[in-house]
Amino acid sequence: MGIMDGEKSTIMTSIDRYAVFGHPIKHSKSPRIHRLFAEQTGQALEYTAVDVPAEQFRTAVAMFFAEGGKGLNCTVPLKELAWNYADHKTERAQLSKAVNTLALQADGSILGDNTDGIGLVTDLLTNHAITLSGIRILILGAGGASRGIIAPILEQSPQTLVIANRTVDKAVKLAAEFHDKGAITGCGFDDLKNRQFDLILNATSASLSGCVPALPAGLLATGGNCYDLAYGNEPTAFVRWGLENHAAKSLDGLGMLVEQAAEAFFIWRGVRPQTRPVIELLNSERQA
Ligand code: ATR
Repeated sequence: MGIMDGEKSTIMTSIDRYAVFGHPIKHSKSPRIHRLFAEQTGQALEYTAVDVPAEQFRTAVAMFFAEGGKGLNCTVPLKELAWNYADHKTERAQLSKAVNTLALQADGSILGDNTDGIGLVTDLLTNHAITLSGIRILILGAGGASRGIIAPILEQSPQTLVIANRTVDKAVKLAAEFHDKGAITGCGFDDLKNRQFDLILNATSASLSGCVPALPAGLLATGGNCYDLAYGNEPTAFVRWGLENHAAKSLDGLGMLVEQAAEAFFIWRGVRPQTRPVIELLNSERQA
């Protein structure tokens, strides 16, 4: 073994390793965000993006931790698999049936958490001064993205939370799972006629393909806000819907992305990075 090999192994063991697993993963902003956090807080760590198809997930995660990895983010389509993989889970991860953050614990076990919901709520409350308590909130969609945000929203005590979905049955069942946590009901898009909401969140996957569910006119209350959990370099279809419907603010999920990352960073490192400069930087880059 030469000197180079010796140096390489020293470096490999001295820098804590993190990664995001997903499929596809090429366009993930997570490595950028976590490197900015590390730089800002003076934490020495490495964070990479790895393309991991679902069928290779368990092997890839086991290998990552066996080789000294400290923590993982998991994104589409791996969040449910990560939920199954974790040795134990936080309550919010348990409820969302999805895990986006895996963290190696001192005893060698793997903790699963879900920071998506708290990321959304922090973005709304802290970055956009949108208060959730006492207001009427509508979530469009009843898939995994919706499930992950329901409990953190109900913790803010909205007046009502309605889940509307194309497949009505899914919305009704999802709402029923959270009945003991607050005022929540499920329905179809047709049932939204003559109703009004102060905040409409789009958690359908339709926005990515440029579609917005057919929504009745007047659905957004005067002064109300819109938020798309998806984000892109251009305004998403739902962000445009919000603007057309005179939303006070019509936002996309870039802030949520940075906030969920900050929460994961805190779980791993015990240090809270400042999110605002990172959001501002990513925003300025996409406007350029
Ligand atoms: P995710 O994990 O991103 O939530 P998902 O679990 O597949 O993905 O859920 C996708 C959600 O987007 C569902 O609520 C889906 O509605 P259905 O349950 O009726 O399938 C919704 N969705 C997808 N395409 C849509 C469209 N064109 N119009 C309305 N809703 C749509």
